[in-house]
Amino acid sequence: MIETRGVGRFGAYRRLLGLGRRKEIPVSREAARSIVVGSGKGGTGKSVLASNLAILRSQRGERVLLVDFDAGMANAHLLLGLAPRHDLGHVMRGDVDAHGALVPGPGGLQLLSGGVGRDVLANPTRRELDRLFETLQPLEYEFDLIIFDHGAGLGYALMTHLAATSTLLIVTNPEVTALSDAYALYKRAHKVNPYVRSGLVLNRALSQESAESGWERFRGAAHRFLGHSPEWIDWIPTDPAVQESVEARVPISLSNPDAEAARSLARIAEWGPLDHAKSARPFFERARGALR
Ligand SMILES: Nc1ncnc2c1ncn2[C@@H]1O[C@H](COP(=O)(O)OP(=O)(O)O)[C@@H](O)[C@H]1O
Ligand SMILES: [Mg+2]
Repeated sequence: MIETRGVGRFGAYRRLLGLGRRKEIPVSREAARSIVVGSGKGGTGKSVLASNLAILRSQRGERVLLVDFDAGMANAHLLLGLAPRHDLGHVMRGDVDAHGALVPGPGGLQLLSGGVGRDVLANPTRRELDRLFETLQPLEYEFDLIIFDHGAGLGYALMTHLAATSTLLIVTNPEVTALSDAYALYKRAHKVNPYVRSGLVLNRALSQESAESGWERFRGAAHRFLGHSPEWIDWIPTDPAVQESVEARVPISLSNPDAEAARSLARIAEWGPLDHAKSARPFFERARGALR
């Protein structure tokens, strides 16, 4: 199921990580923990964070599934140096089942790609989403942690995931436009899911001071208007090593783990709520309930 064309120059890297072989995934009785990564605004670093988080957590021995839910503008596969033959669009159309679209990635993680330019994912109907979530449901019993990487905006699929998730990771930048979109996401998340546990990551900060001042602005506004705020997780510096890793299609946690940004990502992967990201009912059951 894996197409290696186009990633040939990463052959050594892929062999090193044992990619290209499909492993049998053991089934467990307990549903996976699941988290949603969102921002409101595009380009804040969600996919960089989600893909590195997936690697770092799978390096700890967890069975991790990364689902790229960026409707039609998916890029997690590029960041991971993978070329999936199938994606969520195929699953939605019924061309393959959920397992047929999984691609093994670095560190043992599995990727379910979002696909590029998929109209069906950009504007799904209630019925389409319900069918998709139903098809994906069995995956919950095959992983320890599922990370949903979302795109920009506050679309239908994201709303249902916000309603379903126990844990939301908001990725923003110090600019006022990014902070304001992140605030809109946070507000919306708490409206559809008052019990959601939210944490904020400030990415692409030029210094600790600028990260802290961005966080203070966010926290201040959230407290003033909503009476509560997310938890502070950490900040990630603007680091050319991130761009280099994107260009090389090897996540920074693997290619340059000592880089400043990689060290921040490693701290973020230790955020306590990631160990408890569970609701009373499984994620897709809740997401399907939110469609009604
Ligand atoms: N900490 C950082 N330092 C430098 N560049 C970054 C950093 N985080 C992200 N980037 C750059 O921003 C681009 C967009 O990141 P991405 O994770 O794809 O955003 P999103 O998923 O939120 O749209 C990346 O391709 C990368 O080049
Ligand atoms: Mg993205």
